[in-house]
Amino acid sequence: MTLNLGETRLEAVQGDITQQEIDAVVNAANSALAGGGGVDGAIHRAGGASILAECRQFKGGCPTGQARITGAGNLRAKKIIHAVGPVWDGGGHRESELLCSAYRSSLQLAVENELRSIAFPSISTGAYRFPLEKASKIAVDTCKDFCSEHPGALDLIRFVCFSARDLKVYSKLLNPL
Ligand code: APR
Repeated sequence: MTLNLGETRLEAVQGDITQQEIDAVVNAANSALAGGGGVDGAIHRAGGASILAECRQFKGGCPTGQARITGAGNLRAKKIIHAVGPVWDGGGHRESELLCSAYRSSLQLAVENELRSIAFPSISTGAYRFPLEKASKIAVDTCKDFCSEHPGALDLIRFVCFSARDLKVYSKLLNPL
């Protein structure tokens, strides 16, 4: 499913984030930038040891709601943006604000590094238990707002859904008709 916002295309696909041939792949990282399971595990496995070595250069890791950029190792991408989403704790602990910030920080880093295309996983909706319906709306709305504020800064924003269920939710947000 695709939505064109000026010169930027937003699209939702089902697939594996590690296989994306795109400028920037976003990792659903933890604040220690230490690797883990899910997307994090897949990216470090596919990308190789150089990624963790670069992550270790960020002393103190990365605060929740922010992102850090490294090389992409063996991935078919130029860079990896390690975004740290919030753990869902009922909704009363700034979770939505922090998730929005994780997406916004990732987009900002992509633009600052002159990356024209970016692929996001569904940040915080796995191990961090953020409800998918809420998280996906935050993801799409944040990207739409960013495109309005920075027209033409990006050619493509791709939401890479791991399941058909997730794809259905994101597709509906991109094309609510
Ligand atoms: N490609 C695309 N999406 C994937 C992939 C993949 N290879 N693997 C998992 N996903 C999906 C999950 O199904 C979920 O929808 O990514 C979404 C995010 O799930 P997690 O990877 O668990 O990320 P998150 O919920 O943000 O939790 C982050 O988990 O792996 C640890 O180190 C990580 O502590 C951090 C936490």
